[in-house]
Amino acid sequence: MIKREKVAELLKSSGDLLQLLSMDIEQSRDDREVKKFNEVIGFVEQVVEVIEGYPRDREIVILDCSCGKSYLSFALNNILSRLYPMQFFFYGVDTNKALIEKCNQIRDRLGYSNMRFMDGRIIEAQPEKPIDIVVALHACDVATDETIAKGIKLGAKYILAVPCCENQVRGRIKRGHPLVDITDFGLLRYRFADILTEALRSQFLTGAGYVVKLIEMVPQKVSPKNLMIIARRKKGKKKYNMERYYKMDKAFNTKFVLKSYFSEQEFGSEVGDYSVNCL
Ligand SMILES: C[S@@+](CC[C@H](N)C(=O)[O-])C[C@H]1O[C@@H](n2cnc3c(N)ncnc32)[C@H](O)[C@@H]1O
Repeated sequence: MIKREKVAELLKSSGDLLQLLSMDIEQSRDDREVKKFNEVIGFVEQVVEVIEGYPRDREIVILDCSCGKSYLSFALNNILSRLYPMQFFFYGVDTNKALIEKCNQIRDRLGYSNMRFMDGRIIEAQPEKPIDIVVALHACDVATDETIAKGIKLGAKYILAVPCCENQVRGRIKRGHPLVDITDFGLLRYRFADILTEALRSQFLTGAGYVVKLIEMVPQKVSPKNLMIIARRKKGKKKYNMERYYKMDKAFNTKFVLKSYFSEQEFGSEVGDYSVNCL
């Protein structure tokens, strides 16, 4: 396995790239740049592990959801192409037009012709090529859910997401659920909302035919937003089962957004009809 130190060494020796992304930690005194550098390293390490399992003779296509300035995709492009004699192609999507323009400029400066950036919502993105791997680093709130839904709809083999803020559930767990004596307390409600949100996302992915693993991408002291969802699609065509997701959503009355990205046909909505047809 290629270790984090090796990934960091490769990124540090990527010349222009770090300066263009303002992530030159040897020069920088800015804690945010150092944090971003370490988050990117932790994320790249996990993608490298996924790439290790791919055959070397075909192009791997990666979709970066809510790419922002695309620190992650630029770093991945640089590091993966130095580690593997393979073709890679990257799509980035973000609602911020100015950042997408910036990404295009950085791409052109670096001569990375294997990257295409799109402005717009993740859920509406229309990449021309079939997607192998969907990634998202700190996609705000429901943007992580759009990432997961898009990954499932595109039939991505891997979905790797490090969520950002988990706001949608917090306001809905003040009353009317079995753990109300815990969520009465503001701090516990915050922490429980985070856990419940990631559990709902993980159960949704499991129901849609993915094997899900949750890890800490980097230590807490490096970045508190360090929980990473790693989902790998199981082989074969199946009818998938959303029962556990539905039960949790109902028990906590979360009205969680993930289901809303799927049509009735894709996703059974009646009690007792818990199946979803996946690619
Ligand atoms: C916290 S930033 C993270 C950016 C980048 N991944 C990084 O790690 O630097 C979140 C980004 O999500 C984008 N965003 C929010 N909702 C979105 C959506 N529904 N579709 C696409 N992008 C979205 C914002 O414009 C912003 O650039």
